[in-house]
Amino acid sequence: MCGIVGFAGKEPAAKFLLEGLSKLEYRGYDSAGIATLSEGGFTVKKSTERIESLKADTADGAKLNGNIGIGHTRWATHGAPSIPNAHPHLSADGNFAVVHNGIIENYSEIKAELESEGFKFVSQTDTEVIPMLLQKYYKGDLMQAVRAVAARLEGSYALGILCADYPETIVATRKFSPLIIGIGEGCNIIASDVTAIVSHTKNVIFPEDGEIAFITADKAELFDANGNAIEKEISAIGWDVAAAEKGGYDHFMMKEIKEQPRAIAQTVESRIKGREIVFEDLKLDTEKLKSFNRIQIIACGSAYHAGIVGKYVFEELLRIPTEVDIASEYRYRNPITDDKTLVIIISQSGETADTLAALKEARELGAHTLAIVNVVGSSIAKAADDIIYTWAGPEIAVATTKGYTTQLAVIYMFAVWAARKLGSAPVERIEAMFDGLLKLPEATEKALLCEDTVKEAAKDLTDTESMFFIGRNIDYAVALEASLKLKEISYIHSEAYAAGELKHGTISLIEEDRTVVALCSYQRLLDKMLSNVKEVSARGGHIVACTTEGNTNVESNAQRVIYIPETDPLLTASVEIIPFQLYSYYVALYKGCDIDKPRNLAKSVTVE
Ligand code: F6R
Repeated sequence: MCGIVGFAGKEPAAKFLLEGLSKLEYRGYDSAGIATLSEGGFTVKKSTERIESLKADTADGAKLNGNIGIGHTRWATHGAPSIPNAHPHLSADGNFAVVHNGIIENYSEIKAELESEGFKFVSQTDTEVIPMLLQKYYKGDLMQAVRAVAARLEGSYALGILCADYPETIVATRKFSPLIIGIGEGCNIIASDVTAIVSHTKNVIFPEDGEIAFITADKAELFDANGNAIEKEISAIGWDVAAAEKGGYDHFMMKEIKEQPRAIAQTVESRIKGREIVFEDLKLDTEKLKSFNRIQIIACGSAYHAGIVGKYVFEELLRIPTEVDIASEYRYRNPITDDKTLVIIISQSGETADTLAALKEARELGAHTLAIVNVVGSSIAKAADDIIYTWAGPEIAVATTKGYTTQLAVIYMFAVWAARKLGSAPVERIEAMFDGLLKLPEATEKALLCEDTVKEAAKDLTDTESMFFIGRNIDYAVALEASLKLKEISYIHSEAYAAGELKHGTISLIEEDRTVVALCSYQRLLDKMLSNVKEVSARGGHIVACTTEGNTNVESNAQRVIYIPETDPLLTASVEIIPFQLYSYYVALYKGCDIDKPRNLAKSVTVE
């Protein structure tokens, strides 16, 4: 997730900007830059290395003149990490400098329009259209130009804008992306989060969507979207720097769990135009899609579990046989992959060694490879024929949460997109799935409301040494991920079973008080699941059930029931994992485990 800072003061801005960017490093970034404004115009410094290298290049900012400036840490979305793509971006005439956090969804059409008018772009970013539009609309009145530009932008943004004609002013505005104004002594600050502000001031203003701020060293003036002056309350923040990095949460994992409705919305909404799904730059077309007789999904860990959901989704909507492979297995067997195979590679980091090797193997065998990746410019993104980014923002906790649910969101979207092209399922079925997808962020938000119930249920587990998760169909896919989540952060031994398999061996392990989590949200097989639950109960098992609202008949069979909102059966996988991310979190918390950095685990497994 990108980060922005801006400083208007009575002392050189660069030192503050570099410090502010260091505070934003925790958000993850692949490049960074600052621009200061002085009588000589803009001075811009960028780096694709660490902030430390920017500090070293500028003697800690001392080489840059100007008491006003803006800075940015970039997490690439449009265009690889590179110096031209790093912010700040300048207008062609050099009169504007802009930093941006968010995604401009209609940038391609704006860029085409500006190019036809003779504007020359130097980056591949969506952001660069903003300084160019400012140049186009600026007729000497900065407020009027900012309002005209804001009216053109679709998507999300928090912006810091400098104009050489206004050498003492930073303009800031936002829509669906965070932006905070810090009110200091002899200086005023903007930032995308409080971490960059708290060591200077605890007095802040939170602008609303559409509001515009004009900030100088002495004042911060706020205006509504029509340019009318408004009064805003100054709030005092109680957080220290460490709490601020985690958005006030104790752990990144909880912050990332709570970010999921927004992350899924970003993944989905940025690809939707009316009722169309548009994947930019995808080479796959209808003819190529029709040529596939098999899909192979290859990944590791949670990404592999997302792939298992993918099998159910693709086989139902595309009617193409789909296999799911663990990357470390695929690469060392003799896989049947050829030019009629679509290989889908799933990886949050884009750097997992086994997954990358499997991708290369599949390409050599002639498959068309499509990567579902979060990190732009990562090795897997570079090596695949096609990429669909998950755009979850950086994930810092080792245990994946929003990484996994945004992978599912891409799988769902891709399935609807392909099913429409292939006509492989009834139109009503495909469109119902599409409608459900649009409501997925809201359903995720509702699922988070189970937190209190889950928190209580987690207390029962602190002395548990071993337990089971069971489910059928989509519920089984969720059981695999829920079980992994629990074991990796709470260190409780846990196994996931297809409920129908219990009788074939594992039921011998069910004894008095053995906890069994029964996932009962897949409506079509609910009765069969309830029979399995009864078998476990009869042997003394302690049942924690999860089902969709209204299924109260589950209560008579379980010690605890967690309810989630009803969605399309395939989409349930994304909603049903939410309680178990929270469940794992609270069990680990009660046991005093290191939640964000579980023992023996690394965020990115770049070795075999
Ligand atoms: C579990 C987890 C891991 C990863 C796996 C693949 O919470 O995060 O199982 O899913 O290591 O990593 P990526 O998706 O980066 O390839």
